[in-house]
Amino acid sequence: MPGATRGDGPPPRASTEPLPGRLQDAAATLRAAGLAGRADLHPVGLLAPDASLPSGYDAVWMSQFLCCFPREDVVRLLRLAASALDDGGRLFVLDISWERQENEVAAYCPIQTSLYFACLANGNSRMLRPDAMLACIRAAGLRVEEEVDDLGTGHTLFSCRRAADTSPLVEEEARP
Ligand SMILES: C[S@@+](CC[C@H](N)C(=O)[O-])C[C@H]1O[C@@H](n2cnc3c(N)ncnc32)[C@H](O)[C@@H]1O
Repeated sequence: MPGATRGDGPPPRASTEPLPGRLQDAAATLRAAGLAGRADLHPVGLLAPDASLPSGYDAVWMSQFLCCFPREDVVRLLRLAASALDDGGRLFVLDISWERQENEVAAYCPIQTSLYFACLANGNSRMLRPDAMLACIRAAGLRVEEEVDDLGTGHTLFSCRRAADTSPLVEEEARP
């Protein structure tokens, strides 16, 4: 479920674009928490050929989302997310990679999760290697501004901006 925030004065607005069933769950959770007024919910199947997102957002957040799709869809979804950004806005991609784990036991979990995705779940999703993720980000017209490893249970956060909004040096400086 990607989310987006717009800094048009407090309280910040948030927008999520999940599948319809998930959207109803999100609406109920927001209502129960008294936060319904802070969210615009958009029922969008993001793989639909005519999928579009509202624009003008300062940040788009994609958490454990891109790993659900094959690489060609990842590039398309990144382009779609970039289209929602305002000038200078940031796209955050949070995902997990076995190559960024501190030890073999920690790497074993995402390796087996990828096997599960590819063999038992939808047959074409997997945890992307960081280099593959960076290639998809570049192919989508974005540039990585910062990479942060070891978040939560071994996640990596890629902070990106549209390439047109950044200098070519930014990505090289972000590499750990
Ligand atoms: C692995 S879950 C991640 C959920 C949450 N972002 C997190 O980090 O815990 C993947 C999410 O992608 C959403 N999703 C999968 N396919 C989608 C599609 N075609 N369009 C929109 N959302 C989709 C699912 O509804 C689900 O919420």
